[in-house]
Amino acid sequence: MCGIIGILSNKEVSSTIIDVLKKLEYRGYDSAGIATIFDNEIRRQRAKGKIENLVNLISENDLPGTIGIGHTRWATHGIPSEDNAHPHHVGSVVGVHNGIIENFREIKEELINKGYKFQSDTDTEVIIQLCSHYINNGYNNRDAFFKTIGRLEGAFALCFMFKNDEEKLYVTRRSAPLVIGYGKKDVFVGSDAVSLSNLIESVIFLDEDDVAILSKKQTNIYDKLGERVDRKKKSVDLNSDIISKGNYQHFMLKEIHEQPEVFGYATSSFINFKTHKIEMLNEIKELDNVDRLIFVACGTAYFACAVAKFWFEKYVKVPVEIDVASEFRYRDTSFSKNEYAIFVSQSGETADTLAALRKVKGKVKKTISVVNVVESSIARESEFVLPIKAGPEIGVASTKAFTAQLAVLACLAINFSNKRGLISKKENSELIDELVSVPGIMSNIIKKTSIYKEFARKLMKAKNALFLGRGILYPLALEAALKLKEISYIHAEGYPSGELKHGPIALVDKKMPVICFAPVNNLFEKTISNVQEVQARNGKVLLITDDEGASRLNSSEISMIKLPKFSNFISPIIYAIPSQLIAYYTALYKGTDIDKPRNLAKSVTVE
Ligand code: F6R
Repeated sequence: MCGIIGILSNKEVSSTIIDVLKKLEYRGYDSAGIATIFDNEIRRQRAKGKIENLVNLISENDLPGTIGIGHTRWATHGIPSEDNAHPHHVGSVVGVHNGIIENFREIKEELINKGYKFQSDTDTEVIIQLCSHYINNGYNNRDAFFKTIGRLEGAFALCFMFKNDEEKLYVTRRSAPLVIGYGKKDVFVGSDAVSLSNLIESVIFLDEDDVAILSKKQTNIYDKLGERVDRKKKSVDLNSDIISKGNYQHFMLKEIHEQPEVFGYATSSFINFKTHKIEMLNEIKELDNVDRLIFVACGTAYFACAVAKFWFEKYVKVPVEIDVASEFRYRDTSFSKNEYAIFVSQSGETADTLAALRKVKGKVKKTISVVNVVESSIARESEFVLPIKAGPEIGVASTKAFTAQLAVLACLAINFSNKRGLISKKENSELIDELVSVPGIMSNIIKKTSIYKEFARKLMKAKNALFLGRGILYPLALEAALKLKEISYIHAEGYPSGELKHGPIALVDKKMPVICFAPVNNLFEKTISNVQEVQARNGKVLLITDDEGASRLNSSEISMIKLPKFSNFISPIIYAIPSQLIAYYTALYKGTDIDKPRNLAKSVTVE
């Protein structure tokens, strides 16, 4: 994921920018760049590849200036190249960006129709061109910046400079990280506080949608309505983990909030935004003779496979088997050379998943791993690797890795469907558009904290809970139950709603909360009859539905979380967010050790 740095100083800034860019390398990148302002001129150097290439350029062409911005780019829209590298510069505006702009096409078309010419394939240049357009139309820098942000959809962190405003940095963030750091005399902006840690004494973590206009002497922060707001400065204590948790009380909460950004990166590393196609596993061309796809994983990663089964059956139309690794490794199973086996693991070190991979190697056509840690054993031992690029997941309960696994598996289903010639151009585009819309939807529903807290208050006193879902949301009922039991220690079970009357309904009484996932889809009416079965037995129903579902039910006895309307295809990804937040706040109210729940390990390297 891209990294951002901005500096306001009394000294030359380019070498400090380089130092910080090196610290941001861990986020992954394929090009880097710096811009400064000197003598009322924007100076810029960009290079493809390693930061050393940029250093060499700067040693040949000095970059003077006491104000500057820098960037490590991890390609999404457009190949890694100098033209696509940041900072992007148009007219008097120069800026860097981390994130994905969902509506960049629409804005780009608008600007092209007005006669603007683009130099890169990036969504970032669209933002800079738009801001420059507002300036051409008489807006001052501040108003142009606000007006530009007002047009953007998606997840983004921005840091801009303006040629005629040499003393200021203009920054904002939405569902992407950005901090302001204060040194003895200098002011910094960065993607994280860790990369600035040797330069700063205190830090401000910006809230969602905050806009900050910074000079060496003044920090002016505004909310999205343009109202001045105060954000507390925190002193930097290098021994404290506040640096990496930011404003969040727990890593788990931070990682939940990172999902819009992480999901955007996970999908966009496979979406070719020019051709509107998913490009992955180019080595696999022939899928006509495939007999079966086998997905193997443990825990949350297994539930990601359970969601993927729906996608692969629908769009790839091959038999799909999913299995938990600890069972799979010991079963007598026949394999054929026309099968692909796919292993999903955040850590890439889970002993059972690794053993399952070793079991099938050489017996199936190819093994594919979907991992977060690309240097892991599972990645090294599988023939193809699909990285989910979620960044380090510290909270033991998996959150962002789950939705990033879903991102990659959804892309793979679309890609395989195309390779089998089963999907029309139109459907392909629609599915990609739906994936692109996910970060925006996630950002909106993550913010509705009070409703998750209200659900959590109802759940915290329960000893048991049932989660119900049908179809593609059944695996989400399993995942939501796992999240709740792991961190709040409340016994929870996930069931397919239709299975309720075959046993678990015996447990329902007035003490049993039943959390039901009920979007309006082809199974809505059936799910609602299951809800009524629970109500008839005095069960406490907590419903997660959409606006239409809520109005069709119109029941004051049911507590509801209302989500916006989205397609069935992306519904398991979106429903992950309320599942995680309900578990999180329930555990918070119970006072459990959320990031390190008892008896659990982050990486299960033993059987
Ligand atoms: C649950 C959780 C675990 C892991 C499982 C597999 O929140 O984190 O169930 O999903 O231990 O781990 P990985 O994905 O590392 O193979």
